[in-house]
Amino acid sequence: IGLWRRIDAYLGEYLSQKSRTKESFQDNSFSRSTSSGRIATDEGLFEQQEPLASSKAVMEKILRRRSLQLRDQQQAWKNSHEGEKMMEFRRSLPAYKEKDSILTTISHNQVVIISGETGCGKTTQIPQFILESEIESIHGADCSIICTQPRRISAMSVSERVASERGEKLGESVGYKVRLEGMKGRDTRLLFCTTGILLRRLLVDRNLKGVTHVIVDEIHERGMNEDFLLVVLKDLLARRPELRLILMSATLDAELFSSFFGGAPVLNIPGFTYTVQTHFLEEILEMTGYIMTPYNQSDDYGQEKMWKMSKQAPRKRKSQIASVVEDALRAADFVNFSPQTLESLSCWNPDCIGFNLIEYLLSNICENERPGAVLVFMTGWDDISSLKDKLQAHPILGDPSRVLLLACHGSMASSEQSLIFEEPEGVRKIVLATNIAETSITINDVVFVLDCGKAKETSYDALNNTPCLLPSWISKVSVLQRRGRAGRVRPGECYHLYPRCVDAFAEYQLPEILRTPLQSLCLQIKSLNLGSISEFLSRALQSPELLAVQNAIEYIKTIGALDENENLTILGRYLSTLPVEPKLGKMLILGAILNCLDPILTIVAGLSVRDPFLTPLDKKDLAEAAKSQFSGDYSDHLALVRAYEGWKDAERDLAGYDYCWKNFLSAQSMKAIDALRKEFISLLKDTGLVDGNTTTCNVWSYDHYLIRAVLCYGLYPGICSVVHNERSFSLKTMEDGQVLLYSNSVNARESKIPYPWLVFNEKIKVNSVFLRDSTAVSDAVLLLFGGSLSRGDVDGHLKMLGGYLEFFMEPAVAEMYQSLRRELDELIQIK
Ligand code: CDP
Ligand code: MG
Repeated sequence: IGLWRRIDAYLGEYLSQKSRTKESFQDNSFSRSTSSGRIATDEGLFEQQEPLASSKAVMEKILRRRSLQLRDQQQAWKNSHEGEKMMEFRRSLPAYKEKDSILTTISHNQVVIISGETGCGKTTQIPQFILESEIESIHGADCSIICTQPRRISAMSVSERVASERGEKLGESVGYKVRLEGMKGRDTRLLFCTTGILLRRLLVDRNLKGVTHVIVDEIHERGMNEDFLLVVLKDLLARRPELRLILMSATLDAELFSSFFGGAPVLNIPGFTYTVQTHFLEEILEMTGYIMTPYNQSDDYGQEKMWKMSKQAPRKRKSQIASVVEDALRAADFVNFSPQTLESLSCWNPDCIGFNLIEYLLSNICENERPGAVLVFMTGWDDISSLKDKLQAHPILGDPSRVLLLACHGSMASSEQSLIFEEPEGVRKIVLATNIAETSITINDVVFVLDCGKAKETSYDALNNTPCLLPSWISKVSVLQRRGRAGRVRPGECYHLYPRCVDAFAEYQLPEILRTPLQSLCLQIKSLNLGSISEFLSRALQSPELLAVQNAIEYIKTIGALDENENLTILGRYLSTLPVEPKLGKMLILGAILNCLDPILTIVAGLSVRDPFLTPLDKKDLAEAAKSQFSGDYSDHLALVRAYEGWKDAERDLAGYDYCWKNFLSAQSMKAIDALRKEFISLLKDTGLVDGNTTTCNVWSYDHYLIRAVLCYGLYPGICSVVHNERSFSLKTMEDGQVLLYSNSVNARESKIPYPWLVFNEKIKVNSVFLRDSTAVSDAVLLLFGGSLSRGDVDGHLKMLGGYLEFFMEPAVAEMYQSLRRELDELIQIK
């Protein structure tokens, strides 16, 4: 306890000393420039633009002159042959016809809501209308338009499109900024960025100085960041009467937003799509030789309709297909379509009916249908990649001379993205996409859509304080949206892989703020100085459950980022400057303080990107065996460090890709880790926790006490107890009872774990509660580092831990103290 108190006091003292050396941490406004001239909280592209008063007039003059030049350039482009063609295309978009009324409404109202079908030209045209009219007006110099996108991929692709519509390169008048990447120049007046980037900018520039228009796109998605941003902007509008806010939505439920902004006007762009012929599962199965008939003609089952499938005499040509489906049905073990069997329909694994039907439909389209690209909506990255593997083995679909098979999802690299928009001659383009292709990305030449009816959605069980990630039925709005994607250029066809009368669909999707843990959001509210968390959240479009808010506040108090009075602690303030979850931020900070930053950088970066350990379904065992080469420390986090260091070595010999291939690692994730490490180190330098000239400080030794300590410090209260029985062990947490490890965890392959605790990064309820990425820690580490060192609440902390120890009743108390003593002794020797 004495040692604990000393470390606690030391850390508190250290952080406050560091913060005193940075004048920025002293005043609460927390706006600061740093030694490197950048804003530490931002990823580097919003330079502070604060010219002296005398130079301001000069600047304005220069800017105005530049505006005139831009205007002339545009005029020249529009008169060129290509420019004329582009203008012709733009004029054909439904949004263009509303140009004047849109601009007038914006000039007369501070907030305007614009709705219009996907593809009508909201994202590409409306920001451009504003830009053009501003450049042409005498105010040209002042205009600075920010348009937010929920995802980085859409910010990038849209900005590129808009620049090319203007005959420019990216980074001239149009730019973009997403995490770790951006393109923005001196002339940039229209910036597409992710919502997260704008929120980070607000941290250092709460009045959005110089910004004239904020456009929040895709508000119908009701993402948490967007909902949060709207509350912040609502307050800002009162302070900045000349600021204009434009909200854009692909669905017609704009009333909610209008009333949120005191009856702001709603403009609707009438859309146009061609007719789309629809086929539901009944018809699809019939095509394969099956028919479906209602099972319960009487109303015994209330609203739920049961379906019976029976086999017609297979028609000759279709017999082969019928057997595919029959096999699949047998595998999935269902005959009746009750809601339960619908659930099993949607278990998307390669052996199940969904995959076989998709394969059948795709090969049928390729062989027999008219030209046109195919868009397949899947639930998430994992089933996209396993479907892709399956299709690649197909004689037609896997033949690159006939089919261009592409994947489209949120975390793909930019080089992959552009292929999606290409329109290849002579081959059939098939794009396997997540619901990202529903609204935010438009692929022009799509004529066929296959819709699995589900999307992976996070939800949050506030009662058990557990996030869940499950595929769930999409909303009715999404069904229409997916279908509409087929009718953009000519009449199309849509195959829905579920029965016509599914009642499981909700009208709209639940907003994210109501279905995710709120910790990061709460911390953000505090760091933006927005007052009481619950008061702020009560003003949101739809307020989250009280219990969810309390859980989040309790969590950030437990990790020491808020004090008892809900004020940001020094630790909390440091955390809000780091663009990672609070627990990961804590690891970076302690890693820097304890001088073992190098492996911690890798771990934090690894936890912020897509899991670098790949587990292709058909090679699961091989992949898990490959990962176990990196084990030996009872830690997935340390396995990641080993894997990364191996990759780094291989990279030096230009063999990084081979290394990844052999070890089932994602080369893309490895590169992302590399980039993030650099970003974190520079942010830590800006906060003063790392010396300016240090690049890394590696104390990578193989006992790992410190690393386990840092992990425990960050991941607490994510802990579970290891209970050994004769042959193996089981795991328990206080809230969930028995929990399981994901099969790709290195700890899942062990028969014994010589530590009493595991700290884990994430628990997710799928059927049981599963832990992802865990590290074994000793009593000593947990006692010393589990909990909030900067909170100074030693007794409370010990009581809580005591609660844990008592709850699990093992090991016996005496034994525990003995082992604790041993480990403490060891720890002190190491120090
Ligand atoms: O935002 P909204 O869904 O209303 O449409 P948009 O993204 O502005 O796209 C308008 C039109 O521009 C689309 O229908 C496409 O024809 C075209 N577009 C394109 O060709 N390439 C892109 N990367 C984006 C849009
Ligand atoms: Mg759009």
